Amino acid sequence: MAHHQRPAVAVTGLGSHLPPRRITNDELAARLDTDDEWITTRTGIRTRHWASPGTSTGDLAVEAGLRALKSAGLRPEPGAVDAVVLATTTPDHPCPATAPSVAARLQLGTAAAYDIAGVCSGFLYAMATASAQIIAGQAERILVIGAETYSTILNPADRTTSVIFGDGAGAVVLSATRDADRPGVLLGVDLGADGSRADLIRIPAGGSRQRANPDDPGLEDPYFTMQGKQVFTAAVTRMQHSATSLLDRIGWSTDQVDHLVGHQANVRILKTLARQLEIPEERAVINIDRVGNTSAASIPLALADATASGRLTPGSRVLLTAFGGGLTWGSVALTWPDNLSVG
Ligand code: UT7
Repeated sequence: MAHHQRPAVAVTGLGSHLPPRRITNDELAARLDTDDEWITTRTGIRTRHWASPGTSTGDLAVEAGLRALKSAGLRPEPGAVDAVVLATTTPDHPCPATAPSVAARLQLGTAAAYDIAGVCSGFLYAMATASAQIIAGQAERILVIGAETYSTILNPADRTTSVIFGDGAGAVVLSATRDADRPGVLLGVDLGADGSRADLIRIPAGGSRQRANPDDPGLEDPYFTMQGKQVFTAAVTRMQHSATSLLDRIGWSTDQVDHLVGHQANVRILKTLARQLEIPEERAVINIDRVGNTSAASIPLALADATASGRLTPGSRVLLTAFGGGLTWGSVALTWPDNLSVG
C-alpha cells in the first residue's frame, strides 16, 4: 500500500478586531478604588477595549474571522474552510456553542464548527486541535478564532479583575501544505492542564454545579473570579516549563527564538518569563498596554499587532506560549509566513 505522507500545517491568514470603545485607567479609577499608577506599574496596562452593551463575542469573532479569511485570500463562502474553531470563555450562550453561528454568519456553508473552553490558553488549544485535524487528513483549511467579551463577566465592584481584562478577537487560517520547510509551518505543540487548581480562576455559577437561579441570585457568583497572586506564580512556572519542553523537542535553543509571543496577562509575567527562558526582553512581543488581558483573544491580537508593525518578518522563529484557568497551558512553535498581510 502506498504510504501517504502526512501534510504539514501552515498559517496562511491573520486578522483581528477590537471593539471601538476604549477604556482608560482613569475612567476605571473614577469608579473603583484604584489609580493609573497602580494599574500601570503592576500590570503594564494603559487602556483596554470593551464592547458596547449588546455586542457579543460572536459579533467580534465574525469581524476577526472575516479579516483572517481575506488575509488568506479566501472569500467568505461555502467551502472556504472545512471547520471553524472558536476559543472563548465568554460564549454568546451557555448552549449551543458560538462557533456554528459565527460560521453561518461568515457564509461558510456547513463547515464543522465548535468551541474550545481553555480560558486564556484556549487559542493554543484551538490551534492544536485544528492542526491535528489537518494532519489527520480530516480538513484542508480551518479558521481558528479567539474571541472574548470579558466586560460581560467582570464584577464591576472588583478592582482586581476589572482593571485587567479587555475584549477583542483575533483569528488565523491554518492550511494543509506539502512543503514542510516553507515559512509559516507549525513545528510543534505542547499542552498541559492541572484541574486540581481549578478554583484559582472560575465563574462559580451558571453551570451544572451551581445553576443560575433567578429566585436566589447570589451576588458575586455569576462573575469571573481570580486569585491573582497564586495565578501569577503558576503562570510563569507553567509557561516556562511548557516552552522549554517544546523547544527541547523541536531542537531550538532559546537564543534561536526571534519572537516570544506570550499570553498578555501582565507585563511583569511576560518580562519574568523572558528572563527565566533567557530570551532577551526585547524579543518579547507586548501589546497588553493597549488591549489588557483579552484571554483567548490575546495571542492572535499580539500576532496581529506585531505583524502590522512589521516586527514579525518572514521565516523568523516564533514561540507562542499561554496559561490560564483550568488550570491550562500550552505552547506552539512556528516560523512566520511569507507575504502575510494582516486584516
Ligand atoms: O489570564 C489568565 C492568567 N492571569 C494572570 O496571569 C494574572 C496573574 N496575576 C496578576 O497579574 C497579578 O497578581 C495582579 C495584577 C492580578 C495583581 O497584582 P499583585 O502585584 O499580585 O497584587 P496583589 O493582588 O498582591 O495586591 C497588592 C495590593 C493589595 O493591597 P494590600 O493587601 O497590599 O494592602 C491589593 O488589595 O494591591 C491591592 N490592589 C489594588 N490596588 C489598587 C489590588 N488590585 C488593585 C487595584 N488598584 N486595581
